[in-house]
Amino acid sequence: PHARLTLDPDFVVGPVPHRLFGSFVEHMGRCVYTGIFEPDHPTADGDGLRGDVLELTKQVGPTVVRYPGGNFVSGYDWEDGVGPRDQRPRRLDRAWRTIETNQFGLDEFATWAERVGTEVMMAVNLGTRGMQEACDLLEYANHPSGTRLSDLRRSHGRQDPYGITLWCLGNEMDGPWQTGHKTAHEYARLAAETARAMRTVDPSVELVACGSSGRGMSTFGEWERVVLEETYDDVDYISAHAYYEESDTGDQTFADFLASAKDMDAFVEEVVATADAVRARGRHKKHIGISFDEWNVWYQTRWNASDRARSLTAWDVAPRVIEDEYSVTDAVVVGTLLNSLLRHGDRVAVGAQAQLVNVIGLLRSEEGGPAWKQTIAHPFEQVRHRATGDILDVRTRGDRISTARFDDVDLVDAAATWDPAARASSSAGEGVLSLFLANRDEHEAATVEVPLRAFGDLRVAEALVLAAGPGQDRYTTNTAEAPDAVGMRPLEGVEVADGTARLTLPPLSWAV
Ligand code: AHR
Repeated sequence: PHARLTLDPDFVVGPVPHRLFGSFVEHMGRCVYTGIFEPDHPTADGDGLRGDVLELTKQVGPTVVRYPGGNFVSGYDWEDGVGPRDQRPRRLDRAWRTIETNQFGLDEFATWAERVGTEVMMAVNLGTRGMQEACDLLEYANHPSGTRLSDLRRSHGRQDPYGITLWCLGNEMDGPWQTGHKTAHEYARLAAETARAMRTVDPSVELVACGSSGRGMSTFGEWERVVLEETYDDVDYISAHAYYEESDTGDQTFADFLASAKDMDAFVEEVVATADAVRARGRHKKHIGISFDEWNVWYQTRWNASDRARSLTAWDVAPRVIEDEYSVTDAVVVGTLLNSLLRHGDRVAVGAQAQLVNVIGLLRSEEGGPAWKQTIAHPFEQVRHRATGDILDVRTRGDRISTARFDDVDLVDAAATWDPAARASSSAGEGVLSLFLANRDEHEAATVEVPLRAFGDLRVAEALVLAAGPGQDRYTTNTAEAPDAVGMRPLEGVEVADGTARLTLPPLSWAV
């Protein structure tokens, strides 16, 4: 394949949203327990936080982390997770049919987030609970002092309020699997009233209404319309969730999996269209943003068919749940999903990859043992650190294919940012252009040319690629024994001559 990219520093989608590169910690499987929290681990600090996972999290660098769920939050009593640990109750977590020990809660999570240097995005329970409990949690978290719940927080050792700005009004309330699942009308009324009540407690909050838990939901579109008609003035964002997998069931092909970002593009564009239609009809001024607060590759079909899924009746503490091991292919797809989010950075204000560790994780950790980066952590880390300044509107002219599910799939998938004030190194002049490129062709290398005259005199500062290396194939993963098997390697042969950059992407690869 061949592609020619057209970009110009004046054709800007918008500034890169800081919150686009978030992640998610749910009380699920081993994400919290033996993931970020393991008091007996050799690297744990005085608060029981695993030092090795903390260090890897800092490297990967999620800018915001959603907590505590997920399906878990829809049956959660946040009060169980605060106060003296020896008095916290053990509870049945009905979402994942496990035992929740409550040894970790809001105060521990906020401490962890401060140590990582990331923002907390908090979800409230609108499944089994309602406005009062949401306002109570907000008071505990954000009110300075002098009230029962703010003083309760202070009695637990935290004097200053946490100042949590970003709040999710429930989780996936459109999903029949959700505890307290609601119709769009039922949810819309509850979300609007809860939003208004929360804003009286703390007017600085930014609120996310639940959108669809997948583009394939039968209520997709109508759910967003009904929810936004009711909540438009009271919320800032509407959520979207999407998971993709390589599967030979149904009508999906491998080419469809590689083209998953086409589905994400369409999902975002359809939610934007729906939100803007509600805006027009209601004569509203502001635009609603999208919080894409769960997305990833997830081998859901495999999990649903597994013995483990069937045996989630044992009420274990922190069992292994959906610990997908990600391959080279999955990393390429995740790279294209990041490209899709970037391309839509004018409307996607928040992104949260799901989840941070062990559970469909960027990272993996073993109890008492090592922690390492999965393959998918590498494109995440690259985009998170290198996408700075403005997102450029990239036009791609090149070879395209049609798959069973998608028409006009670019074999070279691209996104780009231009940071006019940045310097690539101390000796470089001002201005850094970053290109994020995938080659979706499994067998052939792709040549790419990018005319760059509009940017002045550029040179290549760095070029890295993720692809199967010698002796590997597209299924190669990172493991405890070989944690660095797959990662970013130098991309040789990138040149800028006569105002045009030329490069070659290996088959099935993602590059920066
Ligand atoms: O991330 C795993 C689960 O996927 C979450 O708990 C839920 O919100 C979604 O269905």
